[in-house]
Amino acid sequence: MIRVNENYLKLKASYLFSDIAKRVAEFEKKNPGKEIIRLGIGDVTLPLPPACIAAMHRAVDDMASAKTFRGYGPEQGYDFLREKISEFDYRSRDVSISADEIFVSDGAKCDTGNIQELFAHEIVIAVPDPVYPVYVDTNVMAGRTGVNSDGRYSGLVYLDSTDANGFVPELPGEKVDLIYLCFPNNPTGATATKADLTKWVRYARENRALILYDAAYESFIRDDNIPRSIYEIEGADEVAVEFRSFSKTAGFTGTRCAFTVVPKKCRAYSATGEPVILHQLWLRRQTTKFNGVSYPVQRAAEAVYSDEGRRQVRELGDYYLENAARIRNGMKDIGFARYGGLNSPYIWVKGDRDSWALFDLMLEKAGVVCTPGAGFGKCGEGYIRISAFNSHENVDRALEKMSEALR
Ligand code: MLT
Repeated sequence: MIRVNENYLKLKASYLFSDIAKRVAEFEKKNPGKEIIRLGIGDVTLPLPPACIAAMHRAVDDMASAKTFRGYGPEQGYDFLREKISEFDYRSRDVSISADEIFVSDGAKCDTGNIQELFAHEIVIAVPDPVYPVYVDTNVMAGRTGVNSDGRYSGLVYLDSTDANGFVPELPGEKVDLIYLCFPNNPTGATATKADLTKWVRYARENRALILYDAAYESFIRDDNIPRSIYEIEGADEVAVEFRSFSKTAGFTGTRCAFTVVPKKCRAYSATGEPVILHQLWLRRQTTKFNGVSYPVQRAAEAVYSDEGRRQVRELGDYYLENAARIRNGMKDIGFARYGGLNSPYIWVKGDRDSWALFDLMLEKAGVVCTPGAGFGKCGEGYIRISAFNSHENVDRALEKMSEALR
């Protein structure tokens, strides 16, 4: 008898964004022709920057000639891209991350989901609440939790992120081994200061813990005082892995390209307490299970760092941040407290009823799709997340419709 991994049976029936897509599809079926504006999943709507498109076209031509054709690439990514990432994302900000500490991949979702494989079964894991569901669900699948009751899995340490702490969680009261952090935060849009991150790095160093730092939204940071990388904090390169993505930065959600930084100084420990270099383990994992990102896509990602690419990417970010500002203003006018959306494409809105009820009301009365905060955890109850990824026209229209429906 073939038996299933019982841990999968502990999961909620479907992934949050699949669940929402299903509800929206049902609504569309029941209400044919009704206009729907999507401000739910954080999926970009503007096309790839022209610099990326031109580079991708050239790379496709390379694949058409035996002289320039490429077969399997290095699993960790081509040097041409890793060098650019190291130079522009790190060295230009006085952070010493070398090209060979960068692992190019097909998504931060996959990497944040896969990396838990490197760690022992019995480690203590801390996750913020609300949280990007991938961090939790992948640990559930791996059997590191008990069952879900009342919206939380036993065995995990939840770090409450509320308006009382500005959605930046406090250090845990107990000793934890693995800590997931995400700034600018998905879903709350909160950012962490240098002082906030310094506290976490110190905690990790004192407790031989590891921080998994998801910085997929760093390109939306406009305030120079906000750190863009955890490695801006001294000593973080010994206790933190960082995840970045071209998805939201440069519109690669469908094209797929991201990277993970595993500094060579970063350690975890064997059962006998011997330090183990994480870089070697991740390299071993990636070379075994991953065959790299396609050559044309990596060339397109490389173009993000050209002069015109950097200008175009900045414009993309500015466009969505303008939407975020409109949403912040619009929700305030409607009378709702709202957070985030300043250095982030997500606006976290405190509603006047439970999250799913507000989601249903927004969909049915306004034809606007948002994401119910409760889908991100217990502390998300009563909130909705509104994404800034759409056109200015659709955002304005959504605000008008929400204003009619919610006032
Ligand atoms: C979101 O809406 O939270 C994101 O699109 C999730 C993701 O990037 O996977």
